[in-house]
Amino acid sequence: MIRSVVRGTGAALPRRIMKNADFEGMVETSDEWIAQRTGIRQRHIAADDETTASLGEAAARAALADAGLTPDDIDLIVLATSTPNNTFPATAVEIQNRLGMHHGFAFDMQAVCSGFVYAVTTADLYIRGGLAKRVLVIGSETFSRILDWSDRSTCVLFGDGAGALVLEAGEGAGTIADRGVLAASLRSDGVHKDKLFVDGGPSTTGTVGHLRMEGREVFKHAVGMITDVIEATFSAAGISAADLDWFVPHQANKRIIDASAKKLGIAEQKVVVTVDLHGNTSAASVPLALSVAVADGRIKKGDLVLLEAMGGGFTWGAVLVRW
Ligand SMILES: CC(C)(COP(=O)(O)OP(=O)(O)OC[C@H]1O[C@@H](n2cnc3c(N)ncnc32)[C@H](O)[C@@H]1OP(=O)(O)O)[C@@H](O)C(=O)NCCC(=O)NCCS
Repeated sequence: MIRSVVRGTGAALPRRIMKNADFEGMVETSDEWIAQRTGIRQRHIAADDETTASLGEAAARAALADAGLTPDDIDLIVLATSTPNNTFPATAVEIQNRLGMHHGFAFDMQAVCSGFVYAVTTADLYIRGGLAKRVLVIGSETFSRILDWSDRSTCVLFGDGAGALVLEAGEGAGTIADRGVLAASLRSDGVHKDKLFVDGGPSTTGTVGHLRMEGREVFKHAVGMITDVIEATFSAAGISAADLDWFVPHQANKRIIDASAKKLGIAEQKVVVTVDLHGNTSAASVPLALSVAVADGRIKKGDLVLLEAMGGGFTWGAVLVRW
């Protein structure tokens, strides 16, 4: 059977690093509060010339270089983002043009922080359905542009950045030993809209709007939703937590990551954590964490890797990949 195999990874971060202490003169907060409640120590913030498209392009170029491929080899670009350069056209198409790619097709996918997990699952279906052989899957965000910088309960949590994967069609035996995407489980439930949303949009206010969140409510639901969808993925693949080599969760809050891993029985040393370095970069958080763990040699060919995310909507999901 056809499997969607990871051929390369890449990442891009804005030049400017903002430390927790840099918020101290802006809103009533402290490095200690932010680090203790979230595990975040710093985040990258995009300059005016750094956009979702430019960061996505840089991450895509890095992933292509890692794969030893050029844009000519790619059939499809799926970009997960909630902070597109424009309302339309899709920022994926802009990235396609920036890469000098004038064949194939590209589109954006909007599932907020779960965007990358949705995008990998979508790319896998295009590959297995025979519509594409090589897909660039990108998560790129500039959440700094939609933050209310006077709201301490949200502005300290998010950051900007991009990560990318190249997925390529390969042959598999149809077993759990195959390389590639092995199983996935996706969920959403709009009843939770008001707990995490942006209070603007083209069809309502005609403005871009700002991120609004009931943090405590999100926290309350997060661990249960994440562990449910992971257990569904384990059961679809016929594996258990002990079989995993690496758990790469959405990087929103270290306490949510720790509680989820503990509930699932995933050993602490198998959990990839980058929230301290990047903050919550929404759809970019999982591919950024992946590229860190691949670059430092933790994730290796043949490893069984579980990706997970949860975000506004709510949306949530998990994907199991043999690297
Ligand atoms: C946002 C979050 C860190 C807040 O932590 P918490 O322990 O739940 O804290 P609470 O919301 O209960 O607030 C505790 C107090 O800290 C205050 N506070 C909020 N932000 C603060 C900040 N940056 N600095 C200092 N104090 C802050 C609150 O105003 C509140 O004060 P009060 O008790 O006087 O009302 C936490 O709820 C969280 O991480 N939620 C999930 C968010 C998330 O991951 N979202 C993305 C999902 S994709």
